[in-house]
Amino acid sequence: MERFNYPGTIGLAPMAGISDRCFRIICRLWGAQFAFSEMISAESVILNVGVVDKMLPFEEENTAVQLYGSEPKKLALAARKVQHRASWIDLNAACPVKKVVRKNAGAALLKDLERLRDIVMAMKDACEKPITVKIRLGFEKNELEKIMDVLVPAGVDGVEVHGRTAVQMYSEKAQWDLDLERWNVPTAISGDLYTVYDIRKALEVSKASAALVARGALRKPWIFHEFFHAKAPAIEQIRDMFLLHVKLLKEHEGEKSFYKLRQFVAGYTHGLFGAREFREKFMKLEGFDAMESAIRDFFNQFLMNVGENIFVKEDGAKA
Ligand SMILES: Cc1cc2nc3c(=O)[nH]c(=O)nc-3n(C[C@H](O)[C@H](O)[C@H](O)COP(=O)(O)O)c2cc1C
Repeated sequence: MERFNYPGTIGLAPMAGISDRCFRIICRLWGAQFAFSEMISAESVILNVGVVDKMLPFEEENTAVQLYGSEPKKLALAARKVQHRASWIDLNAACPVKKVVRKNAGAALLKDLERLRDIVMAMKDACEKPITVKIRLGFEKNELEKIMDVLVPAGVDGVEVHGRTAVQMYSEKAQWDLDLERWNVPTAISGDLYTVYDIRKALEVSKASAALVARGALRKPWIFHEFFHAKAPAIEQIRDMFLLHVKLLKEHEGEKSFYKLRQFVAGYTHGLFGAREFREKFMKLEGFDAMESAIRDFFNQFLMNVGENIFVKEDGAKA
């Protein structure tokens, strides 16, 4: 197998409930060079639970499937089963949520490095695709060195590092100065990447080969565009991408999935004048048709007032 590397510098991070097929397509169109599925339990893959098929990438390039679990054999079997739908397989050793940790999965694996090693080795044995692992710095304290010294000899193909411990959850600032080059394995940095400046700074100080954007993409989905073009996209482009998101959701998930758009409206209207009132109205809408026409009305008002400033300052006044 050719040596793995993350297929680009900037990718969409795995986010349960967010990084579904539609949002992955949108972020890839904005410029994300790679993406991850939402985390999928190895158990549900093995049991053929219906929702799994919908969660797996469908003809998407450079998209990893992220699995979670605690049993080497089950993770190996699940990886083998889904590998034909994935560019590579990613193991979740980062999730700090109680429901996951209680089952010895996610970040709990950082407390049991022998198990983590056995899982990686079993997945590597079972699977023809590369195996990467997403970790935090440690469970209670920073044990990055110890963790990497287990993962690298186990044959991991890449490691994504969220620069916080599991007990920190999302509090305090993520750590970037990690000198990730030390281990001679491809790495990606994650944590607090909200602006192009953050991404560039995190890449520089972490010495990672790539960066994963998570909440930053939810807050401003065109962050990937800004990374490559050094400017915000035109208002028409934002409107058209929002409308495409509506169309994709309708096609892929059906009429009843309109509520999913509510979690993205803040992102698509980020920084725009009148966004707060629009969001309040949008959250009450029921159905794609009403949402689509509200989106057109909101964005078209800016297009009719060419030249007027449409962005706002933090205090809500026109910039
Ligand atoms: C809503 C949400 C869901 C997430 N789900 C996952 C997941 O399924 N798998 C995973 O490895 N990380 C998950 N994460 C963590 C992100 O991938 C990322 O590492 C973390 O949010 C730090 O990046 P940020 O500070 O830029 O958001 C999730 C984060 C959020 C906010």
